[in-house]
This record gives sequence, C-alpha cells and structure tokens, in this order.
Amino acid sequence: MSVAKKEYKRVTVKSLIDMKRNGEKISMLTAYDYTMAKILDNSGVDVLLVGDSASNVMAGHETTVPITLDQMIYHASSVVRAIKRCLVVVDLPFGSYQSDPKEALRSAIRIMKESGAHSVKMEGGKEVKESIKRILNAGIPVMGHLGLTPQSIYKFGTYTVRAKEEEEALKLKKDALLLEKIGCFALVLEKVPAKLAQEVAESISIPVIGIGAGSGVDGQVLVTHDMLGMTHEFNPRFLRRYLNMYDEMTSAFKSYIDDVKSVDFPNESEQY
Ligand code: KIV
Repeated sequence: MSVAKKEYKRVTVKSLIDMKRNGEKISMLTAYDYTMAKILDNSGVDVLLVGDSASNVMAGHETTVPITLDQMIYHASSVVRAIKRCLVVVDLPFGSYQSDPKEALRSAIRIMKESGAHSVKMEGGKEVKESIKRILNAGIPVMGHLGLTPQSIYKFGTYTVRAKEEEEALKLKKDALLLEKIGCFALVLEKVPAKLAQEVAESISIPVIGIGAGSGVDGQVLVTHDMLGMTHEFNPRFLRRYLNMYDEMTSAFKSYIDDVKSVDFPNESEQY
C-alpha cells in the first residue's frame, strides 16, 4: 500500500525519520558524478548515496576495497555541486575507519569539510561501535550498513545472502538495535532474508533501507548504473532494470561511428 507523499523542500536526516513514521517509503540511489546527480535530484529521489561501489562501477575494480578516501571525496564533491533537494550520504571507504575511532573521525571530518556532503555511511555493528560514536559526537550523522558488507568480502568469500542461519541473524538483530541506540539516523540492510529485514525494520525507530532485503523495510536503494541497465554482467535476483541502457548506448555509439565514417556527420547545419 502506498502512502501520500509529503513535499520536502530539502531532505534531511529528520525527514527520513518522519517518512518512516508516516509510512512513506524512502527512495535512495547511488551517484558518483555531477551530471547523473543532477538528473537524480531533479527526478525527486530522496537520498543520494555516494557509494564505495564507485570502486567497481567507475574504476572497474573487482571489489570496493581499493577505493581511497581522496577518491570518495572527489566523487562526493561532484555530487554535492549538483543537488538542491536530496540528502547526500557518503561511504567511508575501507581502511579509513577500521583501525581506531580517532582516524574514523578524521576521515568523516574530511568528507564533510571537503565535499560538503550531509552524512556518512559505515559498514559493521559492534566492531565499529566506538568509531561510530566518536563521529556522532562530533555532530556528523551516520547511516549504518549490515548484512552483506562488501568491504569484508575477503572474510565472507562470497556475495551470497547473509544471515540465513540463526546465529548470524541474531547478531544482525543485536547490531541493528545497537546502531539505533548509539544514534545512527538510518540503516542499510543488504542481501538478507526479507522476513528478517522486516523484523528488524519493525523493531527499530530509525529507517531501514534495503537492497535485496524485500519489501517489508522502510525504503529501497539500488546502484543507479545497474537499474539503468548500463551494467549487464551483474544479475542478482533483487535487481530490477528500468532501462536497457547498455544496448541503447551501444546502438547510439554505433550510429555515431557509422555517421562519422560515412561523412554523414556533421552535415551543413551542424557546422560553422
Ligand atoms: O556502495 C554502495 O553502492 C552501497 C549500496 C549497495 C548500499 O553501499
């Protein structure tokens, strides 16, 4: 059942909590550059995530592990320059917050000061609690991320569904309560059973935004390049493709190449 949308001139962390209270689902998509962020913001999406998935999507790395804090700041500042309405959340990349809370705070401060973003996202629960608290104490809003946490891919060894077993599900539920308690404003749940995700969303007051976590949560996030069909080698069950841009773009590029080769482009009206 959908709920009437309230108009938010600017989406803030508080707006997201209001949306959850009012039963309005939250829409979140990734952005890594100015042009895409401008289209997304004008389309009315609530949250833009400058995800460390930029490591895969923009840089062609196999995992999110290699992307650096400087690279995340570059992507985030390009996105921030484009937006007027949505809330911008930036992933703290692997290696910028795991070693100690002071380093975590320094990394978060750099993101906030150098990119102008509104909040940061961090993977993990109890293990990174002290770092999250330190960042929150400095007045920086933090979004949590549990379930499949791609920065730990080498620990998991696979990108399959997480928390199917009782023990892991129990830890996830405890971590979600902990993140709420210490003051995170929202939580991403990635690739976990829908029933578990719904249970978590119903047990905490902060919004739970799912990716591969079913419809019983408070909002959804997808990687923009995946939902546009620009990538085509990645086909998880949870991914709905709204366009087939890989084929559309290939066809446009081929037409351009043909036009150049045949001297059809530029024509009389396309020159000075
Ligand atoms: O980096 C990213 O794009 C993410 C989403 C998959 C939630 O963390």
